[in-house]
Amino acid sequence: MWMLPSALGAFVFVTIVAAQSNQIPLVSQLGDSQFENHKNLPGFDLNLDALRLVQFSLDQEPEWITERQKLAAKTMGFEYMDITETPSLGVTKKLQFSYPPPNSTFITGVFPYLSKVEAKANLEHLTSYYTWYYNSGTGRASSDDDQKSMITVESVKHSWKQNSIIIRMRPVNASESDPITILGAHIDSLNKENPYFGAPGAGDDSSGTVAILKAYRGLLLADYRPVSPLEFHFYAAEEGSLFGSQAIASNYEATGKVVKGMKQFDMTVFHKAGTREQIAVIHNANQVNAELTAYLILIIERHRRSFLSIKHVKEFYPGPPGPSSDHASWFKAGYQTCHSIKGAFKNAKPRKFIKLAVAFAIEMSNY
Ligand SMILES: *[C@@H]1O[C@H](CO)[C@@H](O)[C@H](O)[C@H]1NC(C)=O
Ligand SMILES: *[C@@H]1O[C@H](CO)[C@@H](O)[C@H](O)[C@H]1NC(C)=O
Repeated sequence: MWMLPSALGAFVFVTIVAAQSNQIPLVSQLGDSQFENHKNLPGFDLNLDALRLVQFSLDQEPEWITERQKLAAKTMGFEYMDITETPSLGVTKKLQFSYPPPNSTFITGVFPYLSKVEAKANLEHLTSYYTWYYNSGTGRASSDDDQKSMITVESVKHSWKQNSIIIRMRPVNASESDPITILGAHIDSLNKENPYFGAPGAGDDSSGTVAILKAYRGLLLADYRPVSPLEFHFYAAEEGSLFGSQAIASNYEATGKVVKGMKQFDMTVFHKAGTREQIAVIHNANQVNAELTAYLILIIERHRRSFLSIKHVKEFYPGPPGPSSDHASWFKAGYQTCHSIKGAFKNAKPRKFIKLAVAFAIEMSNY
């Protein structure tokens, strides 16, 4: 999420002007005396002087800055992608899809199962958690060999500590070239003030991670069988540089996987929006695809009078539109993406976002 630290207004103004004239805004303006406290902490071996290739907007050329400047930019509320490891993401052309009108009648059948799931995911132990669920004796899933054979759970190792997790539901007759629907969320691990501090958001029930996890479990318990492959991605966030999603998008690109559409689930409250409970559908043309975004709105509209009972509002990230979350990695790769977040209301019902995740998953994968 892009936030404007008020004390930095003048700085940000300069940056916005620079961004509008398509200049690279940041390097010389970033402080470099911060973040030395890692020396007191075991386990951190970050070289703060290392040069990194960073993209502050997908419209702009990347630039080389130091790790320290990256961290400073993050504390100032800037979003970016560190593309040092994946500089050529998006080199190949991707198939573009159009989406037939949503028509599933299966969705509400999943809802009774949403209330049966346990309260909290233990985000510290994602792998064992998912594996445990998959292997556990609860529900119909584990006793149904046919369904079980279509589920795989992959823990994706990266060059840093935290793994990403991919859960796949594949039809028995699926082939490698079948178009994949992806629901993504990042494993919250970042404290924006200083990445060396703990991240209080981890395990928070309001996170997108928990929303798509619950949606997945609901589908499993309701014995949903997708017609095309359906995947749930839990991205290691790693300092908010979008490393996890870039690494995975890059792997999909390299192996020629076909992606029908990717939706990021991020439960962050959008500060600019009104006070009504609503879904803010992001429209920034440099990180979401217009056709998939229109389809997402069709889904919300289709179910608005029944179970969703929530309105959507068209929104744009303000200011220099940096890559705000993992969908940006897929967008950069050339795949079709969409993103929505919740409006500025304190008492939003997470259940509606879980239901939206169920609806999106089913409408996209039932043909
Ligand atoms: C797989 O089977 C389903 C239902 O039997 C069918 O609708 C679908 O087209 C098949 N998919 C492929 C790729 O053959
Ligand atoms: C829903 O639409 C898809 C895609 O057009 C189609 O394949 C499927 O048969 C439709 N299902 C129903 C129940 O109408």
